[in-house]
Amino acid sequence: MTLLNGNERAARSPALHHDSFSYESGQLFIEGMSVNEIADAIPTPFYCYSAATISNAYRLLADKLGSSRTSICFAVKANSNVSVLRLLSDLGCGMDIVSGGELERALAAGTQPSKLVFSGVGKTRAEISRALAVGIHQINVESPAELDAIRDIARSLGRRAPIVFRVNPDVDAKTHAKISTGKKGDKFGIALEEIPELYAKAEASPELDVAGLAVHIGSQLLDLSPYRAAYERLADLVKTLRSRSHQVRRLDLGGGLGISYDFGAGPDVGEYAKIIEETVSSIDCELTVEPGRWLVGPAGLLVTEVLYLKNTGNMATAIVDAAMNDLMRPSLYSAVHPVLPLQNIDGGDSSTYQLVGPVCETSDVFGSYEGLPKLREGARLAFGCAGAYGASMASTYNSRDLIAEVLVDGAQFRVIRRRQTIGDLLALEADAPWQSSNTYADAATAL
Ligand code: LLP
Repeated sequence: MTLLNGNERAARSPALHHDSFSYESGQLFIEGMSVNEIADAIPTPFYCYSAATISNAYRLLADKLGSSRTSICFAVKANSNVSVLRLLSDLGCGMDIVSGGELERALAAGTQPSKLVFSGVGKTRAEISRALAVGIHQINVESPAELDAIRDIARSLGRRAPIVFRVNPDVDAKTHAKISTGKKGDKFGIALEEIPELYAKAEASPELDVAGLAVHIGSQLLDLSPYRAAYERLADLVKTLRSRSHQVRRLDLGGGLGISYDFGAGPDVGEYAKIIEETVSSIDCELTVEPGRWLVGPAGLLVTEVLYLKNTGNMATAIVDAAMNDLMRPSLYSAVHPVLPLQNIDGGDSSTYQLVGPVCETSDVFGSYEGLPKLREGARLAFGCAGAYGASMASTYNSRDLIAEVLVDGAQFRVIRRRQTIGDLLALEADAPWQSSNTYADAATAL
């Protein structure tokens, strides 16, 4: 992969996403902040997000979808930091949640329950109860068994549950196999042909307010044609249901809009809006989309430092302090995130390096990168396009801390999640009583 310098990148990048990243006098800037200056204040590795990039993405999408009056619910799983959620919520964005934890995060960020949709194949009874108790806008039902559970819980709470059925349209999203969700045999949604009978059953239950249908065919879609196929199937199903006198007033069109991981333009949101317009906007339903990655992915950097250099075979290898537990995407999906040196001297020597993390797994490799400046110990780098499914998928594998997250807005930055410590981790643990009477509850403060 060729690394572009600031000017080349600016020339190739769409105005929207990469305006907030630039090189000034060889220093990488995120908005008005030198990333090196942040790294002087906060130990690497850490995540760093550009608020302007997120706001601009939201505003652009809202603008493009404006003519079909489609509302936007951010898929919280992509980046669940409460400050990021508040940024989006303050702009008017709703939230798509998939767990009780995400529900509490969205509420903590100030999102109104009337702007929350609850997706996922395995909502627990406790999660469903809590969602109904706070007055959630919509629960997306993924199986007949879940429908029964929601009806029973609603009855016991004396509430009506607002539901839509998530349809599995049997459409190939043409994306990575591990993030494709709309093919027959995937665990998500309910087969098209099963919907009419279930819809009739649900409409007959006074505890259920059956609002419509939902679909989500996969993530990181770069070719938009599968959306057209899925939405056409959805529109046909609406016609079938209406011909049987069922009320269908709401369609949730899912998320999945991809981004370019090499600073290219990525899919055209205008084209996406057009597909919505042409397939479902004439059927008189409230429309919602659930983008995650597209809103936050390009806004994030994972900032890291070179620990050591070594040769592995014939390959110059830099061992950095970030690892697969911080950013799982390379080892899980063979994803390649672009790399930006924090200091980039134009015209200096360049080299190819394999970048790897310290975790004891052969798959803890970020990739092989051409055109990097000569690295030395202590050199700082940033993995780009790391704002989605980065921090939210991180783990503490190898007893590594969950790292800090930082939000930049103009020339200011704030830590929006402090780095965890080993004390925080130990505080959750205790010996079994037959071993010792030790608990580690005070470890968080003692260590
Ligand atoms: N709605 C539903 C029901 C979903 O399952 C998802 C993502 C979204 C919306 C948001 O999709 P997005 O717009 O972000 O593509 N960890 C993977 C991605 C997993 C996506 C899971 N579902 C990755 O890092 O590529």
